[in-house]
Amino acid sequence: MTETITLNTQTLFGAEDAAIETFEVPVSRSVHGKSFPLGIKPRDGTAFANVDDAAGHIAKLAEEGVFNSLLTNHGAILFRGFPLKDAADLTKFIKAFKLPHPHEEVGLSGKRRTVGDIVKTANEEPPHIKFYYHNEYGRSAHFPGILFFFSEVVPEQGGQTPLLSTIELYDKLQDELPEFVKALIAKGITGRQYYPAKEDPDSVKIGWNWQDSFGFDIKEGDSLDTQRRKVENVLETRLQAKAEWQPNGALHVLQHLPAFRRIVSTGQIVPFNGLGGVYGRQRDREALLPPYKGVDDNYHLPTTYGDGSEIPHEYLERLLEISDQIGFLVPWKEGDVALIDNYTVQHARSPWVGERSLLVSLWDSHEKLLPV
Ligand SMILES: [Fe+2]
Repeated sequence: MTETITLNTQTLFGAEDAAIETFEVPVSRSVHGKSFPLGIKPRDGTAFANVDDAAGHIAKLAEEGVFNSLLTNHGAILFRGFPLKDAADLTKFIKAFKLPHPHEEVGLSGKRRTVGDIVKTANEEPPHIKFYYHNEYGRSAHFPGILFFFSEVVPEQGGQTPLLSTIELYDKLQDELPEFVKALIAKGITGRQYYPAKEDPDSVKIGWNWQDSFGFDIKEGDSLDTQRRKVENVLETRLQAKAEWQPNGALHVLQHLPAFRRIVSTGQIVPFNGLGGVYGRQRDREALLPPYKGVDDNYHLPTTYGDGSEIPHEYLERLLEISDQIGFLVPWKEGDVALIDNYTVQHARSPWVGERSLLVSLWDSHEKLLPV
């Protein structure tokens, strides 16, 4: 492995006096012979004077397409030891990659705050809440391809961002649960999400509502019928999703999606969905049975097979176990940046104690995904 990395360094970073080099991230995994994640740091014995200096070097390599091919090969890159302190530094660093299209989020159902033109807080839900493995927006037809995570403040305890390679997850699922894979591919899946109405007092606690998440075209004075029609239109045209209005004024968003996808450039099939994330959260909130209302007063609607039939819980339990076995816990250091291929990597969130700040930036990818 070390030999391969040395070779990569010379061919990818130009010369022995290149400003950056790869390093082996402690306890990283090897997926199909490639380090996951790949570590990149300033070359031993050197340091960047400031973020502009670092961004200049990154920009040169980005123009040569170096990071695109590293992402395709490794899925995740951990940049460590670069002089980044805050959102402004992160913005300069990210812009050096010259990615063409920032990702526009549609249908946010998390608590996020914008801190710059391309940077947001990762999620502001309380520290004790665990997030299970998921592709970002894997529950939606509209998803980002590339993610940056930036560790601004590392908490006293916990707060890691576990990662897994969905290339490895696909291998394991094929080995251990081939009938589950077969059923998922044959039937697809239908995700259901609960969006309360803005007027519902629970919406404050839940943190989002259908007017704010989908009501981009709603104007003051629109009747309820008009508002709903406009939301249905956004769901249909932007997300290929359906609306089901509930007696309490809430909205169920139904999203029929493939559970697996093929990456066009490599032909690799990967699971791409939020199955584990939805099920884990449902289980933790004691919302596994109808009406799926959790101890947090939010509704956690199950994802079913595409024909509406229930996905057996034993499959989902096994999926969570396998995910934990192959997951890699990023031991964050202050100033770390993780660059993630959302198509081949799922992420999670460990609970923490103390103060933590994790920033994110979402981008569209040069890679294409096709339904399987
Ligand atoms: Fe996420």
